[in-house]
Amino acid sequence: MNSLYNFTLILHSWNRWIILIAGLLAIILAIFALVNKQGYSKTNKITSLVFISSLHFQLVIGILLYFVLSPITLEALSNFGAAMKNSDIRYWAVEHSFVNIIAIIVAQVGSIVVRRKSTDPKKHKATLIWFGISIVLIIAMIPMGMMGVSRPWFRF
Ligand code: HEM
Repeated sequence: MNSLYNFTLILHSWNRWIILIAGLLAIILAIFALVNKQGYSKTNKITSLVFISSLHFQLVIGILLYFVLSPITLEALSNFGAAMKNSDIRYWAVEHSFVNIIAIIVAQVGSIVVRRKSTDPKKHKATLIWFGISIVLIIAMIPMGMMGVSRPWFRF
């Protein structure tokens, strides 16, 4: 395997854990704060920031994989019609990439909505809804066998 491809795939694979931990933590903290009637704290802010930043990083690595390094998507780009007939190639070329881009947009829009909310409970509710939708889409598109495609949980 080409070493730059391998390195980028490892980064993309491990960054998924930062995304999942930060996203789920942001949601759990929002629920906890709503239940306990707490304000929108620095911890809420930092967790959201880590979630959004790791998503931006994942988008950049994903685009690099998609257009430059991954033999799977490069094959798809060379003949998209034929690639659509192969469910494995279609998964990477369309489903994984497209749905994750939507998830990243949802999280980004959510973080702007949260910033603009006037009260702390509204900020927590917006975090819950927007990050919740985003994380559901992300989990659905992680190759864990749910859509017939499986990859290692930890790549070395
Ligand atoms: C939250 C967003 C994302 C997560 C959690 C995620 C997660 C993953 C995981 C776990 C893999 C398998 C890595 C491995 O084999 O060890 C992967 C592969 C890949 N992802 Fe993503 N990804 C995300 C977003 C994206 C985006 C936005 C794109 C494209 C624009 C993309 C393109 C790819 C490509 C091309 C591959 C590799 C296919 C190959 O094996 O050559 N990903 N992704």
